[in-house]
Amino acid sequence: MLSYQSLGFENTTEILKNAYRGGYAVPALNFISIEQLNSIFDSCAQKRSPVILLGSPKLCSQFEPRMLARMAQAGRERLWESGIKLPVVLHLDHGLCYDHCVTAIRNGFSSVMIDGSAMPFEENVALTRQVVEYAHAYGVTVEGEIGVLENKHQSPFAPGSYTDPEQAAEFVHKTGVDSLAVSIGTSHGMIKYRPNLDGSYPELRYDILDRISQLLPDFPIVLHGASCLPYKYIEMINRYGGKIGHTAGIPDEQLAQAARMAVCMVNIASDGWLAALAITRKILAENPTAIDGRIYSLQVRPELRELYCHKIDILGSAGKAGMPPFEDDYL
Ligand code: 13P
Ligand code: ZN
Repeated sequence: MLSYQSLGFENTTEILKNAYRGGYAVPALNFISIEQLNSIFDSCAQKRSPVILLGSPKLCSQFEPRMLARMAQAGRERLWESGIKLPVVLHLDHGLCYDHCVTAIRNGFSSVMIDGSAMPFEENVALTRQVVEYAHAYGVTVEGEIGVLENKHQSPFAPGSYTDPEQAAEFVHKTGVDSLAVSIGTSHGMIKYRPNLDGSYPELRYDILDRISQLLPDFPIVLHGASCLPYKYIEMINRYGGKIGHTAGIPDEQLAQAARMAVCMVNIASDGWLAALAITRKILAENPTAIDGRIYSLQVRPELRELYCHKIDILGSAGKAGMPPFEDDYL
């Protein structure tokens, strides 16, 4: 058993409580490479933002959970030793079964998500309750999910269902979860909504969010599928040989609005994939004889760092790690 406390991580209790009270959200960022992990630390250090590192079960099978924990520990120590004492959470993203969560907890994760959202309500409650009992015994926090995000990149579209606020409250009371992912109009992947008939963006369902916070005061909500899918990266990918079709991401203003409400944690994966892929394609196309992969990997890091700094500004978490943000690059 490798305890997260021995690695210096925090669970989500304090950072999400502070986010709720402060009217901002903490970035929860997926990573799949060392460059991406380093760039997450770079941006959070520069902006003095708390950070939630997201590792999915797929990432755990790519790297081994213990290797992920050790990499994250090393990144955290780099900052702490230079006096930048950011709260760092290592969180299992979309754990799909009890074993995923137990394995993460035994290998140094400080927080886990159990995603039983595709199950009937009572089964989701029973599975989530079981994970909460195990996790809380080790001081690990648990995120549950209720309501199903649409999956519009699948064909035919896998239909979603908005979260029912009354059911969300019942779920929280029955399971004892520490945070809750809800469905209010975002979705994973490249197409997050269908445009309104007049071509405008549909708004997130702030009314559902409002009702949830009436029923669950001070309770932190998690927003998944929150990438905005910047056009500049889609265009760059396609210019250098990619074939990404229609995309529809969540506009920055909508995320900012949700972050001022009960949303305290915002999950972002796709924007990081797009930025890294765009830079990689460009550099490889411009350097067709290169054989050392660092020719692109070293340029991915500053690009991602800029992207994540922007996210932190949108979510309002800059300076929330107890220190004012750097005006200039800290490195
Ligand atoms: P995106 O696909 O919008 O980046 O969502 C990521 C996510 O929800 C990870 O859990
Ligand atoms: Zn997600």
